[in-house]
Amino acid sequence: MKMKILFPALALAVLGLLPPACQADSITLTVQAGQPGPRINPAMWGIFFEDINFGADGGLYAELVKNHGFEFPDPMTGWTKISPSLAKGELSVRDDNPFDPANAHYLRVHSEGTAHFGISNEGFRGIGLRQGETYDFSAQIRGVAGNAVLWLNLVGGDGSMLDSVPLKGFSSEWKPYTAQLHPKATDAKARLDLIMDGKGTVDLDMVSLFPRHTWKDRPGGLRADMVQMLADLKPGFLRFPGGCIVEGSQLDRRYQWKNTILPVPDRKLLINRWNYEFEHRPAPDYFQSFGLGFFEFFQLCEDLGAQPLPILNCGMACQFNSGELVPLDALEPYIQDALDLIEFANGPADSPWGAKRAAMGHPAPFHMNMMGVGNEQWGPQYIERYVPFARALKEKHPGIMLVSDAGPSPDDDRFKFLWPKLRELKADIVDEHSYANPIWFFTNNHRYDNYDRNGPKVFMGEYGAQSVAVVSPKNRNTLECALAEAAYMTGLERNADVVRMASYAPLFANAAAWQWTPDLIWVDSLHVYGTPNYYVQQLFSRNRGDVVLPVELGGASAPSSQVQPLYASAVRDDQTHDIILKVVNPGGAPIRIAIELMGLAKVQSKASRTLLAGASLSDVNSFENALKVAPLESRINGVGLRFHQNFPPYSFTVLRVTAQ
Ligand code: AHR
Repeated sequence: MKMKILFPALALAVLGLLPPACQADSITLTVQAGQPGPRINPAMWGIFFEDINFGADGGLYAELVKNHGFEFPDPMTGWTKISPSLAKGELSVRDDNPFDPANAHYLRVHSEGTAHFGISNEGFRGIGLRQGETYDFSAQIRGVAGNAVLWLNLVGGDGSMLDSVPLKGFSSEWKPYTAQLHPKATDAKARLDLIMDGKGTVDLDMVSLFPRHTWKDRPGGLRADMVQMLADLKPGFLRFPGGCIVEGSQLDRRYQWKNTILPVPDRKLLINRWNYEFEHRPAPDYFQSFGLGFFEFFQLCEDLGAQPLPILNCGMACQFNSGELVPLDALEPYIQDALDLIEFANGPADSPWGAKRAAMGHPAPFHMNMMGVGNEQWGPQYIERYVPFARALKEKHPGIMLVSDAGPSPDDDRFKFLWPKLRELKADIVDEHSYANPIWFFTNNHRYDNYDRNGPKVFMGEYGAQSVAVVSPKNRNTLECALAEAAYMTGLERNADVVRMASYAPLFANAAAWQWTPDLIWVDSLHVYGTPNYYVQQLFSRNRGDVVLPVELGGASAPSSQVQPLYASAVRDDQTHDIILKVVNPGGAPIRIAIELMGLAKVQSKASRTLLAGASLSDVNSFENALKVAPLESRINGVGLRFHQNFPPYSFTVLRVTAQ
């Protein structure tokens, strides 16, 4: 979205907002373990996935060939002609008699046989290949004339041949052909060449290359290392597919889930709205193939043990763009799409949409129990559309929790207009978004303390601290931002009766092709690393607990406009009987505090401590130093009903104390 850059975020020290160094024992953290507060939603900490920053194509979806179906508006995007000086040949994009009318374009390659002639695919800004792994090539091919051999070559970034396999004897009808390739070296910037040897003509379509090893080794599946990062978060839910791509810059570019459950070649390509959204980060080769579609989304949720949270277009295009609206009397197909999605996810295998799910290999329901109506809409236009959606959905599926939204900002006029309306409508849960500087996150720690306990619940559906300015390409995933989010999340946790779910955004960024920074996880064609922000999310999620315990931080208060010396929250894990304390020290000095656990008879004297800390607020992780800021686990001794603990500078600590 085109957002105004709101406020430069300076480091806390520059702003003079760092908390003063504290004296030993001047702060006491009191935990009322005998007075449990609200229960925490098991799905509290989740994931927001959007195909931004090449998060799906060029990211999670493991296809290595860009524009495999020649369906981009320029059908040769991603492809180049290989025609050495003696070669004579011709490339033509055609659509007569295709192998699949839904995927009409294909490439005819004709070679005179005077020298090798063909095409090369660059992948998504370079193909990542690993020595020792198998890569599955497939393509629809039709022999038109001659009997030239078609060489499949994996070529390294330096031009070296990594593997080469011939295909020959093509049928005069379209037929799928496959081959396996084994690169003899690892290369992050390889390419796939298809070279004609001899005189002849072939037609090519759906040219594909996948690593054999994908997540759960599913053919045509997802990148295993990226999904592993998600699995390691132990997410409670997965919100999909966005984000602004739900809305589209105009209505005919909105996300339509039914298109994404067709056979892969039939999934109609769509320009990605992040292709052209930011003039400073244009991505003319960014399109949505939908190889990662709604079936794959539900399957991923099941794999991760995360509840699916689909977000559907509610008849509004992105209001930062065209703001195009579906007239109120023409909303019915949009509402029907939502109803059909529920049937696709949950309906019996013999229902019309449930049968499609079963045919895709999943007769059992996916147990979807929530759905978002619109992404980041605002104004009376949203309410006018939300109402008929909610009426129709609640009438047929009263058990599905509906997520409504409060616009793009956490406190502007759009937000202030929507919240009372949604309260009046008795909305289930309202999606709030905040992209703001770290100070906002620190100083909004108490944001939910005074929220109405009887109104709609809150889904903090998109948030991320911006180190420089909102949507600035200079934003980095600094430790400062991560600590600010951790401090804020202690406030979400303390208010778990109101805030039922939360997710950081955006999730992934391809380092060679991103549009938006900061992002939780960065990838290149071979590697992936988690940011300090990722580890904050992971520590909250893996130490979620079941019930909130009230805490008091005596001696740590600060004016509401200032950063506190410490932030803390506590929960209890019902299974392990652990009291889990989360403490953020945003300052540059260590703080030693007293911790009092009230309402317990005894605790074990050894406890576990997980520490996320760095030497400076500007610390970041990188491909070269992926674990510079990463959790370190240790055991601590001397724990009791009252004990002392040091919290190092610039740190987030999770303590697990076991009650006896
Ligand atoms: O997370 C990036 C974008 O920020 C999302 O697509 C949108 O919902 C928000 O404006």
